[in-house]
Amino acid sequence: METTTIRNGKRNGGASLESLSEVSVIIDGLSRAARPGERLVDLINRVGLKVPQVCYHPQLGPIQTCDTCLVEINGQLARACATTISDAMTVSTVSPKARAAQQEAFDRILSNHMLYCTVCDNNNGNCTVHNTTKLLAIEHQHIPFQPKPYEVDSTNPFYRYDPDQCVLCGRCVEACQNVEVNETLSINWDDPHPRVLWDGGSTIGESSCVSCGHCVTVCPCNALMEKSMLAHAGFLTGISKRALNSMIDVVKGVEPETGYGSIMRLSEVESAMRQSRIRRTKTVCTYCGVGCSFNVWTKDRHILKIEPSDGPTNGISTCIKGKFGWDYVNDPDRLTKPLIREGDTFREASWDEALDLVARRFNEIKAQHGPDSLAFISSSKCTNEESYLMQKLARAVVGTNNIDNCSRYCQAPATMGLFRTVGYGGDSGSIRDIENASLVLIIGSNTAESHPVLATRVKRAHKLHGQKLIVSDLRENEMARRADLFLHPKPGTDLVWLSAITRYLLEKGLAHEAFLGQWVNGLEEYKKALGPFTMEFASQTCGLPVETLEKVAHMIAEASGVCILWAMGVTQQSQGSDTSTAISNLLLVTGNYVRTGTGAYPLRGHNNVQGAGDSGAAPATLPGYQSADDPEVRARFESAWKVKLPSTKGLDNHEMVDAIHQGKLKSLYLEGEEMVIVDSNSNHVAAAFSMLDFFVVQDIFFSATCRFADVVLPGTPSLEKEGTFTSTERRIQRLHQVFEPILGSRPDWKITRDIANRLGADWNYAHPSEIMSEMASLAPLIAGVNYERLEGYKSLQWPVAADGSDQPLLYTKKFNFPDGKARLFPVSWSGPTEKSNTEFDLHLNNGRLLEHFHEGNLTYRVKGIKEKTPDVFVEISPELAKERGVQSGTWLLLISRYGQVRVRALVTDRVSGHELYMPMNSTESPVNRLTSSHTDQVTHTPAYKETSVHMEILPEIGESPLPRVNPRFGHPTPQDGVEVERKWKRPDYRLPGSQLVQIQQK
Ligand code: SF4
Ligand code: SF4
Ligand code: SF4
Ligand code: FES
Repeated sequence: METTTIRNGKRNGGASLESLSEVSVIIDGLSRAARPGERLVDLINRVGLKVPQVCYHPQLGPIQTCDTCLVEINGQLARACATTISDAMTVSTVSPKARAAQQEAFDRILSNHMLYCTVCDNNNGNCTVHNTTKLLAIEHQHIPFQPKPYEVDSTNPFYRYDPDQCVLCGRCVEACQNVEVNETLSINWDDPHPRVLWDGGSTIGESSCVSCGHCVTVCPCNALMEKSMLAHAGFLTGISKRALNSMIDVVKGVEPETGYGSIMRLSEVESAMRQSRIRRTKTVCTYCGVGCSFNVWTKDRHILKIEPSDGPTNGISTCIKGKFGWDYVNDPDRLTKPLIREGDTFREASWDEALDLVARRFNEIKAQHGPDSLAFISSSKCTNEESYLMQKLARAVVGTNNIDNCSRYCQAPATMGLFRTVGYGGDSGSIRDIENASLVLIIGSNTAESHPVLATRVKRAHKLHGQKLIVSDLRENEMARRADLFLHPKPGTDLVWLSAITRYLLEKGLAHEAFLGQWVNGLEEYKKALGPFTMEFASQTCGLPVETLEKVAHMIAEASGVCILWAMGVTQQSQGSDTSTAISNLLLVTGNYVRTGTGAYPLRGHNNVQGAGDSGAAPATLPGYQSADDPEVRARFESAWKVKLPSTKGLDNHEMVDAIHQGKLKSLYLEGEEMVIVDSNSNHVAAAFSMLDFFVVQDIFFSATCRFADVVLPGTPSLEKEGTFTSTERRIQRLHQVFEPILGSRPDWKITRDIANRLGADWNYAHPSEIMSEMASLAPLIAGVNYERLEGYKSLQWPVAADGSDQPLLYTKKFNFPDGKARLFPVSWSGPTEKSNTEFDLHLNNGRLLEHFHEGNLTYRVKGIKEKTPDVFVEISPELAKERGVQSGTWLLLISRYGQVRVRALVTDRVSGHELYMPMNSTESPVNRLTSSHTDQVTHTPAYKETSVHMEILPEIGESPLPRVNPRFGHPTPQDGVEVERKWKRPDYRLPGSQLVQIQQK
């Protein structure tokens, strides 16, 4: 685990012991080795000394509000958290002067916090205030507790703030301002009674708070608590409020006589008893591809809280979905029995009956129409092991390459662009490498909402460390608002301005000639292909001024390292593969590969969309991207699997739908995907599903797609199984089982195994680790992956060699081509397939929302999320609203060439002109009724973003589709962290102890 913190551009903490011999410091009489630049508090903690430190958190850095870490340095008091070690330091952490200062500082903390640990839900062994009381052996407080003149704020659905318990440490403010960078929190240091403020004084519910939970996670006491903990964690905390208050009074009543010692001992006994019934299990988030990991605290089947701390990607960070979006796991609508169609309805069936039926029908259809009349789709929500088994079922048992996963809907073009140019279809580095870039360019990605925790790292680097940010998007999303330069090109024209900039850089001598010479092939041919892409052509085609384009080019040329991040705004176009290629070409021409702070980052959407492709759930590639076309590759798998593998070309998702319409495909086994909502042109997809002879859908809820099924099989969510996910960083991480599967459901890998065995296979997998071992033995890309190497928070970023060494930075010594050189890949421009005309006069863009994941099958089951964001809407610009007489709440009928939806308007300046934006969060009015069957020319990824609509205004006007409690209506209060200097200027502030020497301030 790394707990590295970056502040002021420098990394601190997480140093290896070998590098710590350069500075020596005497602490409590012993000489200790330290690295120059190391914080004293980190050294103290590393060598195991105990010094109080209420406001310090290694992932936040020094906040300096609590003064409890005062130590004596060369005879003078100083804060250990704010002190950088230097030679000739003699430190005492326990001298009378230091102890007195620490106790005085902590006394002030206790004047802001009522100690009632025995009946507190935060008394779980990790409460900083409790532990510091014990550490300092506090018996009595000299400054009495004083309640603050404020009410408890419970207006957020997920957490509450109790001002009376708040010790004003400012950790929450630092986390919100400078880690999450939502900039909601502050402390009113100038007020006689300071407290934490949301948006400068709003209720939490009506503030800009996005419920990411950073503040709650880092709070050192019970002032900020998850509501799911309250009355659930302790043995005595579930009693009525009146009884609870009486008990608190009793506890406080005995304190003057007995002292805190005995009260603490009692609370420790109670806390220890809790350990026997509270489980903490590490898992990996099931929503987006960032790959956050955390501990899930559970009591029986109740989720007490999500505790992020040691995740290699996220540390203390989560977004609303990872922190609070888990109600669906215990939702009463979970499928618990297999269902078999009878006419227009379904009846419950036993597992044996359902699996026998599946096997019998697969056999019959295969016998009658051949193996290629069956197809299989694995889920990007499922584990690597499950995708591996799904593709093995298709290929080795049924005998078809008709296997795919939903990366076809978003990621395949980015993968293609990278395969063409650099050889691997994965991010060039880690999120940490993005943090290290001097310029980040985001194209067609609403990163703050679609990859929230990754976005926090960019926002932080931009706010604190001088990173430059350019955003190209149709919408002025949060990242666009923060950007140094926001480009709004005409829809679907990114390829043009990217290529024009590349040509300009080459012509002006701003390309990285040395890099091109050493690392890159194909320059001359590529230059010829750039011929049409003049700045003037780009300006005219994209609607961007030449000066703006030149500015972008110069910012790229001048940056010491550029990372380009892109997502579905690029890939879901008819030239998604070519635009992804143009991005990589630009990075190659400017030398932005092979070192940290550079590279290509296609942001993977689902938690395991990267892994589904890695595991071979794709028609053309066996696990580890080995070509299914290659006889040598097939021979290896045939020998391991003891079967003859098909050599015919398999169908991708898009081709499967067409093949059903053509009568060639008769049966589909679909695992964990709401395909009738998320595939484009959903009416066309629904029509195809109703034509299937036999359709098996495996899911955890009865989804809209299940309505078309012949058999529905109840799978399990991630919290109920073991396995691995691979995040956008190519990071393979283990999820450990939190709950037993709810009665009647089964982990998806077991279902696939049992179907395969009924079809004649002899699969004996007893645990997913065995599946991973088999996959690793066949896929050199992950040769060294096994469960021991992934235990707990350990992770590996592929490629992983047999000895277990991995590659966080993908290219350091060579690109993934035989000669080790990258390839510039020429692309040309053909323009979007579907354009607006007089009838369909508005461009419709679509995408994700922060709160809901895709259509919302999981997140609408989270009460708090539904309260904040209850429905879908279409964003309309103020100018269009004025032109057409629309206001927020007006019902509209959007009509495209393929279908129509009824939806309420939300007027917002996030969009402009005749461009609309509709999020995907609806199964009743899905945006994909409007999208077409046009696709990317290379990968068949639907061109979701090329949609034109006609807008009819309906007579009804409803409420605004977003309630006032949605954070988009809030007003953040950006500031530079907690601003402790304002506290120090208060007339009632005096440094604890004697004289304080500010050796170093942050
Ligand atoms: S956005 Fe809200 S939940 Fe997140 S850190 Fe800020 S106040 Fe806390
Ligand atoms: S609410 Fe914020 S300031 Fe108050 S104790 Fe918790 S983290 Fe510290
Ligand atoms: S950013 Fe993605 S992985 Fe992280 S908590 Fe949010 S949804 Fe989960
Ligand atoms: S830990 Fe709070 S001032 Fe150092």
